[in-house]
Amino acid sequence: MGRIAYVNGRFAPHGEAVVHIEDRGYQLSDAVYEVWALFGGKLADPEGHFARLERSLGELSIAMPMSRAALTLVLRETVRRNRVREGLLYLQVSRGVARRDHAFPNPPVRPALVITVSAVDRAVSDARAAKGVGVVTTPENRWGRCDIKSVALLPNVLAKQKARAAGAYEAWFVDELGFVTEGASSNAWIVDADGRLRTRDTNANILRGVTRHSLLDVIRGEGLEVEERPFTPAEALAAREAFITGAGSLVLPVVSVDGRPIGERKPGPVATRLRRLYIEQARATAI
Ligand code: PDD
Repeated sequence: MGRIAYVNGRFAPHGEAVVHIEDRGYQLSDAVYEVWALFGGKLADPEGHFARLERSLGELSIAMPMSRAALTLVLRETVRRNRVREGLLYLQVSRGVARRDHAFPNPPVRPALVITVSAVDRAVSDARAAKGVGVVTTPENRWGRCDIKSVALLPNVLAKQKARAAGAYEAWFVDELGFVTEGASSNAWIVDADGRLRTRDTNANILRGVTRHSLLDVIRGEGLEVEERPFTPAEALAAREAFITGAGSLVLPVVSVDGRPIGERKPGPVATRLRRLYIEQARATAI
């Protein structure tokens, strides 16, 4: 059975699903998105993703395309029609379709909603986690509102491509003061030389990762020490462990920075354990 997409109230075969050429998401990146991990056909971290979606839309004065309850039904129906158990759900809301003009359409138009689902081979991701991944560093060059999950991702695209070209999995943005902000599509963490977990605080110009937030709950539940404090690439290299979090990567050990190894270039015990615990919790609380 083929993939099915949801576009503005209709389900369509993936290859035939289309949006209007004057969709403001397409022309102006005037749109936000969310990505949910799917476990057993259910949405992981539902509350966190819905709350961030509503916040991103609110910051841009775009209306929720429907109530949270109705949207939940549509998301679930899209997953069901795709028969996907392990995977990702992508949702995008744009300001809508209007004749091209940078300012908002007046009167407002209906927001445009697109949902797609893709399968993930967890055996492949688990193998990647067992080996660990490399990251490269790149100067932070994004706008000042990275807290909004906007589809304007060109710096992230270029950063990720830089990583791919170097044979790495992720790129870490480094700000003017020399601190890692976050990854191109993930949040960045270390277990520092003293054994303390560290990740950038959310007052910084980063996306408030939902996986990050859920993992902080797991970490505190385990009684581990954690600090929301910046770290430099040099501190990452001197750290015991490093890892990234996100709906796509879940919790993924990082074993090198710019080609140089962290420790013995092997996933560490803390990241490995946190990955297992996060996945257990996400599976148990998915809806
Ligand atoms: N990316 N930082 C950035 C810049 C991201 O794009 C993402 C997620 C994260 C992690 O957020 P979360 O834990 O809520 O997934 C952090 C998604 C997965 C993507 O762009 O595909």
